Amino acid sequence: MELVATASQVRAKVAKARSEGKTIGFVPTMGYLHEGHLALMRRAREENGYVVISIFVNPAQFLPGEDYQRYPRDLERDMLMAREVPVDLVFAPAVEELYPPGDSTKVEVRGALMKGLCAPFRPGHFEGVATVVTKLFNIVQPDRAYFGEKDYQQLQVIKRLARDLHMPVRVEPVATVREPDGLTMSSRNAYLSPEERRAALCLSRALSEAERLAQGGEREGIAIMKRVREVIEQEPLVKLEYAELCDPNTLEEVRTVTGPTLLALAARVGSARLIDNAILLRRGVDD
Ligand code: PAJ
Repeated sequence: MELVATASQVRAKVAKARSEGKTIGFVPTMGYLHEGHLALMRRAREENGYVVISIFVNPAQFLPGEDYQRYPRDLERDMLMAREVPVDLVFAPAVEELYPPGDSTKVEVRGALMKGLCAPFRPGHFEGVATVVTKLFNIVQPDRAYFGEKDYQQLQVIKRLARDLHMPVRVEPVATVREPDGLTMSSRNAYLSPEERRAALCLSRALSEAERLAQGGEREGIAIMKRVREVIEQEPLVKLEYAELCDPNTLEEVRTVTGPTLLALAARVGSARLIDNAILLRRGVDD
């Protein structure tokens, strides 16, 4: 496994792998790796001859006042974890490498995908994500790129971006990895005190409750959301930011749950902002 910091080094390594007939799998990350990231890397390993990951805490996707400065970073530990997969190439650029002086191009996905969920709460965030992922795709030029369903809106934004800009990459979704007790793995879980971590379990509990209701035949979005709010309100340490039911492809609001429906939520727990989601009726209805 090699570690490089410049785009031209990545290009050279990837060109060599290609000349050997290997396909390129890519996993962009912000580091502080956990099992969720590793699941993406293992998928990339299974499906490609050469696996590249990036580790870059992207300033452009953090709003003023968000956690850019204190976002957890530990390259040494990340390298050990990536080596276990194993990954072939780690690209860990400095900010100036991806945003050279005078950088003035932004990539923006618009429309229904940007109407709800995190977009109104984090204006400019997805523009920052779309811009950095476009840069990374142009540097790595992967055949396949892997994104977690944990960041469901991000996944849809990247899919749309790749389609609209005719990028020759397949965007592959990977299911959310959870701790044994249900908490969704996230680098931001590092911000939680033991008490907050326990309280945060109400998020996955609320999703399971909603799934149970939908599987049991409840079709009314209002009834499902009422239950979701009740479960979360039982934990005073958890402040719900939003909970929404939407179409898993268009992210448009859904009022009646008749088929696979995304239930996505965001909450503040202590100083952490956590997101989680589930697709209700994913495996069909059992009534
Ligand atoms: P980061 O939060 O580090 O996540 C990198 C990738 O890992 C994303 O595709 C995310 O959805 C996935 N991931 C994180 N936690 C996961 C979990 N518990 N289960 C499955 N997948 C999980 O998302 C970003 O970084 C950035 O926005 C990035 C795409 C790198 C652009 O800067």
